[in-house]
Amino acid sequence: MEVVIVPDDTAVGEVGAAKIAAVAAEVGAGVVLGLATGSSPISAYRALARRVHNRTLDLSKASAFALDEYVGLTAGHPQSYRSVISRDAAAPLGLAPDRVYTPNGFASDLPEAASQYEDLIRVAGGVDIQILGVGANGHVGFNEPGSSLASRTRVKTLANRTRQDNARFFDGLGSVPHHCLTQGLGTIMDARHVVLLAQGSVKAEAISRLVEGPITTMWPGSVLQMHEHATIVIDKAAAGLLRLADYYMETYAGKPAWQRFE
Ligand code: GLP
Repeated sequence: MEVVIVPDDTAVGEVGAAKIAAVAAEVGAGVVLGLATGSSPISAYRALARRVHNRTLDLSKASAFALDEYVGLTAGHPQSYRSVISRDAAAPLGLAPDRVYTPNGFASDLPEAASQYEDLIRVAGGVDIQILGVGANGHVGFNEPGSSLASRTRVKTLANRTRQDNARFFDGLGSVPHHCLTQGLGTIMDARHVVLLAQGSVKAEAISRLVEGPITTMWPGSVLQMHEHATIVIDKAAAGLLRLADYYMETYAGKPAWQRFE
């Protein structure tokens, strides 16, 4: 696991985008992206959008798979992840709308929709680089504490903490769905590269458990310790509880780790 500690959110976005762009360049035009919702990846999406605008990155032939979707909203709801991904990621990154996929949380047969989503990812050749945030309770995607480390795409019940954290996007807690369709931890672990982005002291405990804690279903992101190519890009506040923070910052030939991406 590569831990990159940077000064602030802008730098999180720059370093995250540099990593994503490097994988995209290596893979070529048909790169398969894994997209996350939430506030964490926004600065990286902005930094990627600048590259697309400057024509140093072309994602027009890329495919993209979102991590998760609420169950209980309409597809056109402004907070459905289909809407959020289209607005926050697909449009600014210049992705072709017909190659941007979200789990179908609106289907009448949700287990079937889950298995179809796994098939779609497989047929696309798997995800080359998965972008992740992390919940304050350690969830990745919507894999809440207690999720099997081998889980695949399925229906999950949202934790109260997650519903409270996401209430800011809705008209109060009562409007936040109770269920979702989410890629499993096993699905996420199949991605060839993972870049996880986190900012702020509210994420410090989740990051400390994810990076330095034992691997446990109680902190689902900790499974990433088993990933061969996982990069964790965090600001100083999110790194606040890491016991080895100085080590991560000084490991790379006397240079702060993030400068390696310049
Ligand atoms: C959301 C999403 C996750 C996201 C996380 C953190 O509910 N399902 O994919 O990473 O919670 O959200 P934020 O980035 O807004 O802190």
